[in-house]
Amino acid sequence: MEYWKEAERIPRGELLARVAGKDGLICLLTEKVDEELLGGSPKLRIAATVSVGFDNIDVAACTRHNVAATHTPGVLDHTTADFAWTLLMAVARRVVEGEAWMRAGTWKGWDLDQLLGADIHGKTLGILGFGRIGREVARRSRGFEMRVLYNDAVRAAAETEREFGAEFAERDRVLAEADFISVHVPLLPETRHLINASTLAKMKKTAYLINTSRGPVVDEAALGAALAAGQLAGAALDVFENEPKVHASLMGRKDVLLTPHIASASIETRTKMAVMAAENVSALFRGERPANVLNPEVLGKARQ
Ligand code: DGY
Repeated sequence: MEYWKEAERIPRGELLARVAGKDGLICLLTEKVDEELLGGSPKLRIAATVSVGFDNIDVAACTRHNVAATHTPGVLDHTTADFAWTLLMAVARRVVEGEAWMRAGTWKGWDLDQLLGADIHGKTLGILGFGRIGREVARRSRGFEMRVLYNDAVRAAAETEREFGAEFAERDRVLAEADFISVHVPLLPETRHLINASTLAKMKKTAYLINTSRGPVVDEAALGAALAAGQLAGAALDVFENEPKVHASLMGRKDVLLTPHIASASIETRTKMAVMAAENVSALFRGERPANVLNPEVLGKARQ
């Protein structure tokens, strides 16, 4: 077994060379498992990403090669929802700007109109993507007595809508009526730049955008332009189009809160994710079905 222990990300060439003779791979969302890697690793039988999002894995290519692909769903829903709320509250109440004043020693004392933000309670929360994480975000809005509108490719059952206190709405209505829009869609060809110049133009000028899903879901250049034009009040982003880079137009803006893809980063949750990935691999090698396999049709088939 080999384990990449360096603090920096494994260089691609190094990854390809090291995986070449291996039977299994546990990887992070920063590593692409694609045709190149699979073609060069003839013994590989499983690629297990330590993430719920699996846009780093070409599942179709894994299936062609009879390599099982697994991810880590479920264990990070609450932690990620907690963090979406952390961002929502911090950007609305200008926590980071205030903290910067304190550290710089520039606070001159209390004043009536200092760092005025937006109320959260009683507002409308819009959720784009009503899967497990989106639902947990909705659940947490109850204490704030918010109205929740959601949009998803598939409408939830009436019972689920009741449980989470959420109303299904067409995407344009969510954009037009929400005071906070929290994005929870997977990265797919149809969700790339879901938030773009045209969708941003439909938002309220007083609304905030929160993204803890995947960076490419938001067109960062369009977001920077929309904020500069006053088309929305602010944005809080944990994920970026070209991580670890952030679009230059967002960097200097006080109405933008930036965090380094840490929505699931609690000790408990990251531990559960790592253990889950390892259990997926060990299940396969015991001849069992990995609990979180994305392409079960390859199980039991000879490597291609
Ligand atoms: C995931 O799991 O997909 C997150 O982005 C990292 O926890």
